[in-house]
Amino acid sequence: MKVAIACDHGGFVLKLELMRVLKDMGHEVLDCGCDSEASVDYPDFAAAVCDRVVDSSCARGVLICGTGIGMSMAANRDKKIRAALCHEIFTARMSREHNNANVLCLGARVIGPGLAGEMLREWMNTEFAGGRHLRRIEKFSSC
Ligand code: RB5
Repeated sequence: MKVAIACDHGGFVLKLELMRVLKDMGHEVLDCGCDSEASVDYPDFAAAVCDRVVDSSCARGVLICGTGIGMSMAANRDKKIRAALCHEIFTARMSREHNNANVLCLGARVIGPGLAGEMLREWMNTEFAGGRHLRRIEKFSSC
């Protein structure tokens, strides 16, 4: 699967680790920045990833900032984006199974790299259940 990933300065170190996780899993990774811990504006990087998901050049996206909150707010402005802000494995899995999340948002100042990696593995490996859940997400999102 091709995955777009981006961060702001608060998520830069975790992004490097999660790119390794995705590559280890055999996924193709498109790095949409940023490139250092110098201060940047997270909406610019949320847009870079969401554009790739909306135009289908990437199947999914991963966004990392300090809390994950700003990235998830910015990403969810687009009706085709279902961005899930998760801090543990259960909601990461359920965001795929019930909500067909196409973007995962993580807070690098909230969770450590070990947990973030496990959440990302779970999120990448979980299929959407469809059925009644499709009817529900169609009420707020363009699938
Ligand atoms: C940047 O300091 C911080 O505000 C950002 O990484 C993020 O947490 C915003 O939601």
